[in-house]
Amino acid sequence: MRVISKAQELALTLDSERAIGRKIGLVPTMGALHLGHRSLIERAVSECDVVVVTVFVNPLQFGDASDLAAYPRDLGTDLVVSEEAGASIVFAPSIEEMYPSFPDPPCTTVHVAGLTDVLEGASRPGHFDGVATVVTKLFALAGRCRAYFGEKDFQQLAVVRRLAADLSLPVDVVGCPTIREPDGLALSSRNARLTPSERLASGVLHQAIEAGLDAVRAGERWPRIVNAAMAKILGGEPLVALDYAVAVDAETFETPHELAGNVRLLIAATVGEVRLIDNEGATAPGSQEPVLAGHGTNKTNKRES
Ligand code: PAJ
Repeated sequence: MRVISKAQELALTLDSERAIGRKIGLVPTMGALHLGHRSLIERAVSECDVVVVTVFVNPLQFGDASDLAAYPRDLGTDLVVSEEAGASIVFAPSIEEMYPSFPDPPCTTVHVAGLTDVLEGASRPGHFDGVATVVTKLFALAGRCRAYFGEKDFQQLAVVRRLAADLSLPVDVVGCPTIREPDGLALSSRNARLTPSERLASGVLHQAIEAGLDAVRAGERWPRIVNAAMAKILGGEPLVALDYAVAVDAETFETPHELAGNVRLLIAATVGEVRLIDNEGATAPGSQEPVLAGHGTNKTNKRES
């Protein structure tokens, strides 16, 4: 496995790999790699010939300097995990390599409108601009490739798909399932900052999602009832402060009047000093046969009549 720190060296290396017919897989990360990251790398290795793991703690996506300073960094372990998972290259640039004007921001940044106004975007102003800017740079350096992102950051995945489509980038964005602890807590580099009692309490996020999923599967159509079911479970855990617990349309992230089709349940909460997020998808039952406005019947009934 090769470690590259220079942007142009990465771009040229991948150009020559592509020239001999190799398919490139890209796994962008901020390091502190755990089994969630590892699952992305292994998926990329199973589908591509050359897999690049990028390790870069992107200052542009942190609103809070103390959050950036507290972010765990351990390149030595990241190299071991990447190599064991089968990566061919780790790209670990310095901040100056990615942003020569740092600490001044680059003149050009990427803003994905609409999608970034809600949920994580509303709670963390500027966060998705930072993500979109660094991901666009990584896509530009990597060139034509498949890029792997976790569903754990479901809104981020949607933002990345949107920017790749809108900017005609030659990248296939692949979403990968969330890897969890036995109690359901989604793996995250931030989990290491939880005290033992906070860690125990954090299992409630997944319990709340499950309660929301149960409600949707049982046919509940009112978003606010599903949201209340999730909030009630979270409210029972005093160490957890709820930010949002919502059922939204999985494509638009908007709250529909009634739940239909692909629904996503998303939660954000703070446990001690640590902000945690989680989500799961569900299909609202019966939503394949929507009631047609003004007809007072659905497609099936229409065919039968
Ligand atoms: P980071 O938090 O390091 O996550 C890197 C990738 O790993 C993301 O695609 C994330 O969704 C995925 N991931 C994290 N935890 C996971 C889990 N438990 N199961 C499955 N996948 C998981 O997300 C970022 O870094 C940054 O915003 C980045 C995209 C690298 C831009 O800086």
